[in-house]
Amino acid sequence: MKKRLKLGVNIDHVATIRQARGTVYPDLLEAAQSCKAAGADGVTVHLREDRRHIQDEDVWRLRRECRLPLNLEMANVPAIVRIALRVKPDEVCLVPERRRELTTEGGLDVLGQFRPMQATVARLRAAGIVVSIFIEPDPRQLEATAKLGASCVELHTGAFAEARGTRLERELRRLRHAANVAHDLGLQVNAGHGINYDNIGRILELPWLDTLNIGHSIVARAIFCGLKQAVREMHAALTGYRGGTP
Ligand code: PXP
Repeated sequence: MKKRLKLGVNIDHVATIRQARGTVYPDLLEAAQSCKAAGADGVTVHLREDRRHIQDEDVWRLRRECRLPLNLEMANVPAIVRIALRVKPDEVCLVPERRRELTTEGGLDVLGQFRPMQATVARLRAAGIVVSIFIEPDPRQLEATAKLGASCVELHTGAFAEARGTRLERELRRLRHAANVAHDLGLQVNAGHGINYDNIGRILELPWLDTLNIGHSIVARAIFCGLKQAVREMHAALTGYRGGTP
């Protein structure tokens, strides 16, 4: 069965360049519009507690003015949940967050934080927001995610992206198994973190994928060929998806 795989572009690092100098450029809305023109299916931003890249006004502006579906990545902390409930993005992806990390490290421990997460998922869903949970490809976390009431899972592909040789094959087996389990549990299967132009081919071996969320590699490529072209190239890579069937 052939299925069109969707591309969500994470534009956090467009804001990273802006924040490095405290300028008003590069403009985040223009970045989102370039992504749309190049065929992206959505944009993602991570409103971190430390506001190191995306600012509150960015999220509001994208919500107001960008015609692409907006996926807001965020930690399950009261102040950010309040913002999400007011902004009402199309989707929220709950992620773990540590202040000193370079980027999101590891998936959420849904089993360990079940009750507080359940309450947040219920509030977000009641506001009409689709909820996704970013987790390691671990069947126990997937079962807990389905019990939470979330409709989507985003499988963390970071370990896969860093692995080589036999470890790489092991990570792919874990991801494949997790995608099958998630699908059987009725969850929409998304994936992201560390996906780039070189490793995307192996990601396309996974079954049941709906959306890939990709940021750093696209923004890095944009330095050389522009954001539209960088998104077009990733979009073209995704068209080879055959639903994970050989
Ligand atoms: N998905 C999630 C949940 C993330 O936290 C990130 C990083 O912000 C991404 C996808 C995108 O990862 P990358 O920038 O490595 O493509």
